[in-house]
Amino acid sequence: MKYKRLFSPLKVGSCVFPNRIMSTAAVTRLASEEGHITPNFVERYRRLAEGGLGAMVVEAAVVLPSKSSFNLRISDDAYIEELKKFVDEIRKANREVKVGIQLIHFLKVARSGWRQKVEDLKAEEIGVIPGQFASSARRARAAGFDFVELHMAHFTTLASFLSLVNKRQDEYGGDFEGRVKLPAEVVNAAREAVGDDYTIGVRMLGEEFTKEGNTLLQSARVARRLASLGADYISVSAGERFEDADPPLENFPPFAGTGYSGYRMSPRWWNPDGVQVYLADGIRKAVRQAGYEVPIVCAGKVRTPDLAEKILEEGRSDIIGMARALFADPDWPVKAREDRADEIVKCAACGYCSEADERYETVVCIEWPKGALSAPSPWLLAPPCKAACPAGLDIRSYIDLTAQGEYEKALSVIEEKIPFPASVSRVCPHPCERSCNRGAFDQPIAINALKRFLVDTVRKAKGRKKVEPFPRTRDERVAVIGSGPAGMTAAFGLAKLGYPVTVFEAAPVPGGMLMLGIPEYRLPKKMVREEIDDIEKRGVEIRLNTLVGEGGISFDSLREEGFKAIVVAIGAHKSVSPGIEGEGLQGVYHGVSFLKAVNLGSAPSIGERVVVIGGGNVAVDAARTVQRMGAKEVTIVYRRSKDEMPAYPGEIEAATVEGVKIVYLVAPVGVTGKDGKAAGLRCVRTELGAPDESGRRTAHAVKGSEFEIAADSVILAVGETPDPGFFKSAGFSMKVQQSSQWAGEDGIFACGDVVTGPATVIEAIAAGRRAATGAHRYLRGESVDYTIAEPAVIPVEDVEVERFKKREREKMPALHVSDRVGNFREVELGFTELMASSEAERCFQCGMFPRKDKNIR
Ligand SMILES: Cc1cc2nc3c(=O)[nH]c(=O)nc-3n(C[C@H](O)[C@H](O)[C@H](O)COP(=O)(O)OP(=O)(O)OC[C@H]3O[C@@H](n4cnc5c(N)ncnc54)[C@H](O)[C@@H]3O)c2cc1C
Ligand SMILES: Cc1cc2nc3c(=O)[nH]c(=O)nc-3n(C[C@H](O)[C@H](O)[C@H](O)COP(=O)(O)O)c2cc1C
Ligand code: SF4
Ligand code: SF4
Repeated sequence: MKYKRLFSPLKVGSCVFPNRIMSTAAVTRLASEEGHITPNFVERYRRLAEGGLGAMVVEAAVVLPSKSSFNLRISDDAYIEELKKFVDEIRKANREVKVGIQLIHFLKVARSGWRQKVEDLKAEEIGVIPGQFASSARRARAAGFDFVELHMAHFTTLASFLSLVNKRQDEYGGDFEGRVKLPAEVVNAAREAVGDDYTIGVRMLGEEFTKEGNTLLQSARVARRLASLGADYISVSAGERFEDADPPLENFPPFAGTGYSGYRMSPRWWNPDGVQVYLADGIRKAVRQAGYEVPIVCAGKVRTPDLAEKILEEGRSDIIGMARALFADPDWPVKAREDRADEIVKCAACGYCSEADERYETVVCIEWPKGALSAPSPWLLAPPCKAACPAGLDIRSYIDLTAQGEYEKALSVIEEKIPFPASVSRVCPHPCERSCNRGAFDQPIAINALKRFLVDTVRKAKGRKKVEPFPRTRDERVAVIGSGPAGMTAAFGLAKLGYPVTVFEAAPVPGGMLMLGIPEYRLPKKMVREEIDDIEKRGVEIRLNTLVGEGGISFDSLREEGFKAIVVAIGAHKSVSPGIEGEGLQGVYHGVSFLKAVNLGSAPSIGERVVVIGGGNVAVDAARTVQRMGAKEVTIVYRRSKDEMPAYPGEIEAATVEGVKIVYLVAPVGVTGKDGKAAGLRCVRTELGAPDESGRRTAHAVKGSEFEIAADSVILAVGETPDPGFFKSAGFSMKVQQSSQWAGEDGIFACGDVVTGPATVIEAIAAGRRAATGAHRYLRGESVDYTIAEPAVIPVEDVEVERFKKREREKMPALHVSDRVGNFREVELGFTELMASSEAERCFQCGMFPRKDKNIR
């Protein structure tokens, strides 16, 4: 687990918080007009509890009898029973969380704009306040809350007494002792009401952010006094004073959550993250210097587990308080705990929730689906680029970091999920780009080119990162069969989880199709070797030239050797035969075997005229390869039209530019031979009929249209399948449960092309990651039959596209065609820094700046 401090328990007064994440009080306006609990209110907090936070402070409950719309009330014993039922519901959702309630006393405000001040209170009105807090604290305890929090921050009565703007001339004003008198009486009264074995926290201001209000200087003194009175924690907030509020909305009373001070309570998108941490830090230092160990809570735009952990690590706070981060995603804690931080739906700090509060409307979050009163469960929201990426790369974040020039950080976002960033950045067919919201505006972001820029730039500037072996923390050995991207990713993931992993590879080199299939001019092998090297350095053992299955090591012997789980990742290497005459002639090759031979340095001689049969990537790669090997006439024969051709459009274009001839609507009939060697390909013209089950139109031969293309070599590239012999020897099929990649047999998992048939590198990597999780769960005795939630996608309608100007995307520079002849130099050259930053700035950052009108019902 990455966030060790965040998930360490802490004793707070008489209770132990299971982790350091506290939801700070935040009004929902889901209570009834009379302050009663409603079903929606219960649901909101139940959903919050479900997400795994350590302590929950339920929104400010009013301790005084006066009416206040939609604010929770605790001013009478009559409220105890419903509060008790509420606490029971929370505990059903989360047995561990400690549940507290904030107690609030406020001064009156009227629609006319009139506002009561501390100076207006008569002595007898002040006299009843400690009792009101005390009896409310007693009720909270009776209702089963684990703790109470006395609200002394923001616009509350107690904050106003503590403030330098308290201009009372009697014993409750004037100097520090006068200002702190009422809050101190409240603490003492509450303590007397609940006893010593009950936790009482306080919420106070670190700074008021008004012209004459308290600064950290005064607040530190207040905090020391509260600590000396036995406060069990001090939650440090900021601002929200009436003194600085904007004029009220028409027909509404003044609202302290506006104006500079108001905004500082809940910092907005223009404030830096963690902008308030210095206040908690200052208060913490002040109380520690005075000898008090009281835990401190910080709050204010702490949105990421990384920042939260850093604050704790640096000793600037003991507990991380969050309101809006947990509105936007109540599952924030569980996602952080499970190292799924990139799935957190991040609060945009847009202020929409606060504005709803201002209008006395139900407080909802702009990130939730329209009309929802709580976050859905489970809650995954993703920009379409991320949703379309099989590996779920956090594209938005790495593009944002690229725009900021933070290349190393950006690359680490990618490296966290995939151990083959360089390979993917060169060969990925980037389904993310097809889904990119910017595509509906002008052109999609060149996502994969940005990825490549990061890999190349960081590696050029810093060299290869030094990697250390993952600590071996578990005994169960895992065997992985096949060292392609699927197998190596599974091996990497399992080694990271602490398992000893051995990879069995039939070929003399590791890397699967990255090394054996994809040609050098698209993917330099040096890069693949480096990525594999790094995985080995993490502690993964690779046994080369070691076949498993028919003719090699059996499954039983692997089990006998002590492997407790086996991940099958053998790819799809068996060539499909088109079933035409003359396949056995010399000079007839199968596409993948041919490319393997070239990549392993044992290319056969191909002559001057080569015909390639097929329309997929293997066909195009074979054609471009023979072109580089010196063939003078290279023809691809494809039986359907260009629209049906499955090879990547960019590859088809590059092949054409390089001089490869593609003849469409032509099917092979047979290879003609002379002296046992291929001499040509007999073909027939075709026409297209109705779509078949794959959705592609069927090709029918046109009678009497036969013709021959002269050829010295013929390459058959009509498809590949997983080796049926392997399954026969293993004794089971490769039908897997998609979430865990479990193959239905005890301890057997399968991933990559062996499961899907020929697919893509990124799909193989994603499946490898799932297989690592699946095998880990199996080895830990957990279920491997689970589902993975699909994210909701942020539609372009939710993006403020008006902020952007139309601008074409950057084009990938490439080697001039004349420089490609007779060599295998990499064709694509990569973006310059200027191109990368210009492209990164085109990104909408979908979801980060939601439309304000999005959630209006
Ligand atoms: C020519 C070509 C070009 C391609 N171009 C692209 C592209 O541009 N972009 C893209 O995303 N994808 C591309 N692909 C597809 C991509 O390479 C595969 O989808 C991906 O490599 C699958 O990964 P894998 O780990 O499942 O299998 P593989 O990469 O095939 O790895 C399987 C490994 O298992 C080994 N093995 C097989 N049987 C055994 C056994 N019985 N015992 C031990 N070891 C065994 C094999 O030797 C191999 O090393 C291309 C594929 C080919 C053939
Ligand atoms: C809509 C809303 C209502 C709030 N209500 C309260 C409240 O009742 N009591 C309180 O102490 N703080 C309240 N706050 C402040 C939060 O507890 C928190 O301190 C602040 O929003 C900063 O944390 P965040 O950036 O994680 O939201 C409220 C904040 C918001 C946005
Ligand atoms: S995204 Fe906006 S509405 Fe949602 S919690 Fe954050 S500030 Fe509030
Ligand atoms: S605009 Fe940016 S965040 Fe939005 S889908 Fe495209 S790449 Fe992703």
